[in-house]
Amino acid sequence: MPIEFAERTRRIPVYPLAAGYDLGADVAMLASNESCFPPHPAVVEAAARVLGGVNRYPDPSYQPLRRALADRYGIPPQRIALGNGSCDILLAAGEALLEPGAEVVYAWPAFSVYPHLAAASGARAIEVPLDDEDRHDLDAIATEVTVATRLVLVCNPNNPTSTAVGLDEVDAFMKRIPGHVAVILDEAYCEFSLTLGDTYASLELLRKYPNLVLLRTFSKVYGLAALRVGYALCGAEDFRIAVDQVRQPFYLNAAAQAAAVEALKHQDEVERRVTETIASRLDLIDRVRSLGVWVAQSDANFIWLHLPGTVEEAAVVAGLRERGVLVRAGGALGRDGSLRVTVGADAENEKFGDALAQVLS
Ligand SMILES: Cc1ncc(COP(=O)(O)O)c(C=O)c1O
Repeated sequence: MPIEFAERTRRIPVYPLAAGYDLGADVAMLASNESCFPPHPAVVEAAARVLGGVNRYPDPSYQPLRRALADRYGIPPQRIALGNGSCDILLAAGEALLEPGAEVVYAWPAFSVYPHLAAASGARAIEVPLDDEDRHDLDAIATEVTVATRLVLVCNPNNPTSTAVGLDEVDAFMKRIPGHVAVILDEAYCEFSLTLGDTYASLELLRKYPNLVLLRTFSKVYGLAALRVGYALCGAEDFRIAVDQVRQPFYLNAAAQAAAVEALKHQDEVERRVTETIASRLDLIDRVRSLGVWVAQSDANFIWLHLPGTVEEAAVVAGLRERGVLVRAGGALGRDGSLRVTVGADAENEKFGDALAQVLS
């Protein structure tokens, strides 16, 4: 007789896993929005240095990383939540805020983990379509907020569509959201955004809105995806307390913490990566547009394109894979007939451009 699991377990959608980790070095890995740049050597050394002491649990107050982020962003350490990737904080927020009868509102398509929050908690998910340019429609989202709403998620820049909304629009939106409703501005890709300006710009909003949370990660521009470090800058301390309350105490391992602290010291490297990624992004967009394909205005380290109506998404993904290029099929991310393609190293981008031209011809 099979084990009987909770009803909610059956509701939780399976995360669309990227394929291809077994394909070898010659594959262009453009499916998971990782950084194509390996971590800075000093970051690798910092992580390696702590390995000799891993018989001890990590300091559960995570002071060094909390302090480093507090110094960088001018936010008190007690208003900084940390996590085993920013996903960890997202899921903890769902657990802390949602329950049957409550509602969570977010745009769709957006980050594929968002539907998990309602399914896991029994809350109702309100999914609001993006606008014609595949951007968040903040007006429509604000209109969906009711007395039952506990949480609003705004992915900016949005995964999978790469588009961003300006902070003036977010400000106007926040004015319409009641103060008891938590708003998570998921800024996993904010470093790559020209629309947002710099990574300090949205901090101004935290001063105005205690119910706002800026969710960020070391998985993208800092290149630490496999170590799993995320953080949230919170408008008020109560959000940090709540997400810590619902999780195990040791959510961030010692090597991850050491690497993140060191990575923050190398902002010149971060800037170099951002500059290179933005240049490559423009180049990639030009290549795809030259094939007559619609590409969204990207503010991230990936691009989002709509395939011509006559073309089968699955056939294109398979054709690219046969040519050694892995991308994400839009169907798995909420919109059939699209592709999400990470900006990779020059050779990978070229390989993708050539392969797409062949597959579409
Ligand atoms: C929008 C968005 N938020 C959060 C995450 C989670 O990142 P991590 O858990 O690696 O910090 C991702 C990862 O792809 C993402 O795209």
